[in-house]
Amino acid sequence: MHFYIPVLTSLEEPQNTKTFKLTYNEIDYTNQRMIMKTKLVNNALNYYLENQSELRNELLDFLRIPSISTSEAHQPDILLAADFLVKKLTQLGFEKVISFPTANHPIVYAEKMVDPQKPTVLIYGHYDVQPTDPLDEWNSPPFEPQIEGEYLYARGSSDMKGQIWASVSALQSILRTTELPVNIKYILEGEEEIGSPSLEPFLKQNKALLSCDIVINPDGGMLAPDKPTLIYALRGMAYFELRVFGPSADLHSGLFGGVVDNPANVLSRLIGGMHDELGRVTLPGFYDRVREISPEESEELSKIEIDEEVYKAITGVPALGGEVGFQPVERIGARPTLDVNGLYAGFIEKGAKTIIPAYAMAKISTRLVPDQDPEDVEKGFRAYLEENAPESVRWELDLLSGAPAYLAEAEAPGVSFFIDALKQTWGVQPFRKREGGSIPVATSMKDILGVDSIITGFGLPDDQIHSPNERMHLPTHAKGVQTLIRFFLSF
Ligand code: BES
Ligand code: MN
Repeated sequence: MHFYIPVLTSLEEPQNTKTFKLTYNEIDYTNQRMIMKTKLVNNALNYYLENQSELRNELLDFLRIPSISTSEAHQPDILLAADFLVKKLTQLGFEKVISFPTANHPIVYAEKMVDPQKPTVLIYGHYDVQPTDPLDEWNSPPFEPQIEGEYLYARGSSDMKGQIWASVSALQSILRTTELPVNIKYILEGEEEIGSPSLEPFLKQNKALLSCDIVINPDGGMLAPDKPTLIYALRGMAYFELRVFGPSADLHSGLFGGVVDNPANVLSRLIGGMHDELGRVTLPGFYDRVREISPEESEELSKIEIDEEVYKAITGVPALGGEVGFQPVERIGARPTLDVNGLYAGFIEKGAKTIIPAYAMAKISTRLVPDQDPEDVEKGFRAYLEENAPESVRWELDLLSGAPAYLAEAEAPGVSFFIDALKQTWGVQPFRKREGGSIPVATSMKDILGVDSIITGFGLPDDQIHSPNERMHLPTHAKGVQTLIRFFLSF
């Protein structure tokens, strides 16, 4: 390679591992280069300031497209969202802008190669969004973006059309004021919220096209508006559907209650037994491969200072739950969990109906940490059911999706530039955290393309992603754009 990407092992000020003796000419040159860079950065930042509202209006148009990936009815909107990106990237002067068809939703690829000798940054994004239900809990329609105070409300504003737009805005600000000092590739999928089924095959088939030195994945988030954050770990996932069958049809609960076991009762008992008094998951072997967090890392994470009170304020719960013996940031980032995502059984309409339902169902997800394996978790789940489900019912368990956790073993390439850009923008030292959410593509990219990701993003914990009234904090978004401008211009 013809370039040098400094690699940081801690968040200390970057230090030169070697000391060079510079001649006066070289010092002069270095200074001149610094002054030049500062000028380029300022020009791009000014461009962004001047064009901020136009760029934001374009984001509003993007947000108006209801690209819900899980909904068949919204398939045409998915195509509209992909086309929207194709048009925008073409307008920015990207080449090879291609919308690759897949078994489901297209993957948009684009590149701007300025010089093959220079490093290449691959930017990941997803243009699909979560469904909007419960719709009546939205204060304004999810696909009619509203700006209120410092917030922009719309489905996908934070997760993650707004994040895609942050990099688009940064690149436009650079491309309209100077030349890019680095090659850029985009890969934008439309299936993230349904588990990215087409992405791995696409990565495998297009390794050469996607070859890169640095990956930016802005699908993560920040700790708080004043805490610029770099994510070094993500949780994995094993997602299940558990179905419990009882009598062949719903029965009168008076005529049969007492002799026929109730699948809803059984399912509740089974779920109730999945945690012990200490908040630990009871599935056999669940913790066997959990990598314990070191005292040093635990100490480091405690500096984040996001405590119980903060989580109570964000979520509105009167008290927190979870595993005894770990601080909240550890329980979220470094410990595995099991949650019921949805439950169905029997009569759920208004009023009363006296039945023993024939059937009960639960969607159950586990969030995994290194080195848990989704298939082992499934085995443990089956063992739990074999042991605990009564003979009075029949059960079925499906693993709907599985992905291992992600932990950057070393710093991802380019991280030190990114940390500097965060630091310059926010004026404080960035925090490092383990994220509780899952971004399975980070692991796929590491395995297939061989590059660790810079996992970042300018969303906040109270952005209500996947919930009603999803929103994006505009000042944080603007700082995100500035950070990306500084990052891209640091090469
Ligand atoms: N952007 C989120 C994940 C996320 C959110 C990471 C906040 C960090 C901070 C992503 O779109 C998402 O929701 N992922 C799913 C993955 C699943 C469908 C495999 C998740 O975590 O539930
Ligand atoms: Mn996302």
